[in-house]
Amino acid sequence: MTNTRNLFPKGGRDWPDLQRDIRARCADDVDWQHGRTPLFVFRNDQETYEIGRNAFFECFSENALGRKRAFFGIGSMEKEVLDFGLDLFSAPESGTGAFTSGGTESIFIAIKAAREAHRDLNPSHRGETLNIVVPITVHPAFDKAADAMDLEMRRAPLRADKRVDPAEMQKLIDDRTIAMVGSAPCFPHGVVDPIDELSAIALDAGIWLHVDACVGGWMAPFFTRIGRPTPNFDFRFEGVRSISADLHKFGYCPKPASTVFYRDVTDLERATFKSNSWPNGPFETATLVGTRPGGAVAGAWAVLNHLGTEGYEDAARRLAEMTDRYCEGISAIEGLELWSKPDLSIINYGSSEFDIFVVAENMVSRGWLSGLTREPKGMHAMMSLLHDGSREEFLSDLQECVYLARSSPKVESQLHAKY
Ligand SMILES: Cc1ncc(COP(=O)(O)O)c(C=O)c1O
Repeated sequence: MTNTRNLFPKGGRDWPDLQRDIRARCADDVDWQHGRTPLFVFRNDQETYEIGRNAFFECFSENALGRKRAFFGIGSMEKEVLDFGLDLFSAPESGTGAFTSGGTESIFIAIKAAREAHRDLNPSHRGETLNIVVPITVHPAFDKAADAMDLEMRRAPLRADKRVDPAEMQKLIDDRTIAMVGSAPCFPHGVVDPIDELSAIALDAGIWLHVDACVGGWMAPFFTRIGRPTPNFDFRFEGVRSISADLHKFGYCPKPASTVFYRDVTDLERATFKSNSWPNGPFETATLVGTRPGGAVAGAWAVLNHLGTEGYEDAARRLAEMTDRYCEGISAIEGLELWSKPDLSIINYGSSEFDIFVVAENMVSRGWLSGLTREPKGMHAMMSLLHDGSREEFLSDLQECVYLARSSPKVESQLHAKY
């Protein structure tokens, strides 16, 4: 067997050399700057990008773990970001939040808090298998949290409009259920679950309801404000106990940055890990990670202050119009249909006539990375403003690829949906 391990170099390479190397290594990446990837990157305008980047590097070395003892500036910026979120999501006075490294972490600690809340009410359930009730479309970050905390995942099916069926969720609840989850929107089909109905069930059953607004959190409220029919999902529904919302997606802030909000400060306490077992004394964090980039906090603070509610409304307007144009273009191609009506900017479409993965395969060969769903079989994209300039080229390539697939409908693709 050949050993392909790289040897740790002696060092001494200067920046121009390293920069050349980095650029060469990234040269074959998907051309994301021109909207050729359906996920992973988000950008508003150039000015917002530069502000986020500059702020990030302004506090590049600071560690947000030390925000209470050393880096007071990071602490004050973090508080403002969280306050803006509490305001945006209509949290009551008792509400609070935490700044995290991403959606997965926000979800993990919210579920941990829900488990602790259940244990507080049911001390005898400690050590027993508890469960969470989720839509089948929920993000795998919940599976990850459940796996680490030994929770059972119970998945409810969808209604015809691809939103979870609340009656099916209700059937899965029992006295070992620590939380229900709804998404705003779900990643596969881009629609917001009926949070109003889930909230009523949660209140009635006395169960924690978490809203996963990792994709929509920092954008959906602005869709509503500009008059789009995007449903509400926030603390105005009494049953909503926590919300995860990523800044590094449609908040247009530099990665890694997310937020998690709780209806009540006691729930932040439940999410908080405390230890007093080592020589250095008490240790506690309300996040999963310890060290956190101060730059991410400064970047988010700067972007939120730069854009403000007017800037986000403007971004929402542009994103909504762009998504409409894409949807019209896709629907106009014979043989294609949208599998759901997007509440924000995630689109999912396919065909009843031919194998849509054949289209995806041809699109990949033309340099368009394609997201895929397997149920129903479809192409998928989380559109961001980076996709604006490439719309005509995308739709024209899509039309040609559909033409090819329709010309030989018996051909089946070997592609599989893979995130
Ligand atoms: C609905 C939803 N929730 C959670 C996440 C996880 O976010 P992250 O990748 O930042 O951990 C994602 C990521 O795309 C998502 O789409």
